[in-house]
Amino acid sequence: MTYEFDWPVHDHREKEALLSVLERKKWFNGEEVIAFEKAYAEFQGAAFGVACTSGTTAIEIVLEALEIGPGDEVIVPPYTFVATATAVLRVGATPVFADVDASWCMDPAATEAAITSKTKAIMPVHFGGSMANIEALKTLAEQHNIELIEDACHAWGSQLKGQGASTIGHCGVFSFQESKNITAGEGGIIVTNDEDLAARCRSIVNCGREEGAAWYHHINLGTNARLTEFGAALLRVQLERYPEQMAVREARAATLDAGLGAIPGIIPQPSAPTMTRRSYHLYCIRFDEEQFGMDRDTFLAAVDTAGLPVVAGYPLPLYKQPLFQKFLDRHDYNACQCPVTEALCASEGLWVQQTMLLLSESHMTGIVDSIASIQAGSR
Ligand SMILES: Cc1ncc(COP(=O)(O)O)c(C=O)c1O
Repeated sequence: MTYEFDWPVHDHREKEALLSVLERKKWFNGEEVIAFEKAYAEFQGAAFGVACTSGTTAIEIVLEALEIGPGDEVIVPPYTFVATATAVLRVGATPVFADVDASWCMDPAATEAAITSKTKAIMPVHFGGSMANIEALKTLAEQHNIELIEDACHAWGSQLKGQGASTIGHCGVFSFQESKNITAGEGGIIVTNDEDLAARCRSIVNCGREEGAAWYHHINLGTNARLTEFGAALLRVQLERYPEQMAVREARAATLDAGLGAIPGIIPQPSAPTMTRRSYHLYCIRFDEEQFGMDRDTFLAAVDTAGLPVVAGYPLPLYKQPLFQKFLDRHDYNACQCPVTEALCASEGLWVQQTMLLLSESHMTGIVDSIASIQAGSR
């Protein structure tokens, strides 16, 4: 069996949407962006969406809009894409790492322990699309009067008790880069219920302009992070096809949960108990070498021989990436110790990418059977 999926998905609808922008000759700052922002905010169950060029810029812009900068600390997990932390560095603030727990998302107890008088925000990542313990983090944020920003770059449509990711904290951010479940190659959006915050973000995205005011009138230190009309047109179609794909991924993940969960040493990432929908950007597995009876490198070599779509994921906790050595004046990153993340990186983490969850049910049982036979062969 081969595991390949032709991604990104597109058909005549994307083609027509792109051609229509081309021929309308309004390639920026037009109706497609406005319509996409509205549709996406509605999809998450929020009042406002502010589109921009990427998930990375979305985080930077939110931090700037919340006036987080030099001298301020933002608590982030070390098991995430580098942008969650570097966006904090780029606005002049300091990312402080709090370990993840068995959910693969930020641990509320570790987060509480990391709070200092300089903490201005907590930024959990809904890793792989499973939501962090956002209710506990929200309580913590309220108790300490700090911001809760959701890095929802993997969590399009994920819900907790029917509430969309990005609507429980003050705001959330999403990515539409090409590996993502909804994509225009690049793109991002900030989602919030706070009208003033949305207006500040919109201004920063658009060179500090004031909505409705003259074009050369600037009230904020902004940048140009505007999404193009082409990107927005593509994303409108991608959003229309998303609910169907999301349901397929959820069904395929249920098959993997049932099959893989029965194999000793293969522990699927649990969904937060009150989650009602889950996006599955990644299907994550914790690999217990002792229980499985093999070390992860040997397992990955066997997986490779069998042609299975399973990879190791992040090689290092973020604080061990060389770039943090340049910021030791802000924080002692050499002293960071996050044992759950270190174990995920060193020997326990495994990922199956979202595109694989769009393959057939028999591909899922193929993955389960092959992993079971790798284990049987080793015993
Ligand atoms: C958790 C997380 N946050 C932020 C980003 C940044 O998004 P982008 O690649 O659109 O800049 C990513 C991208 O992979 C991500 O996985």
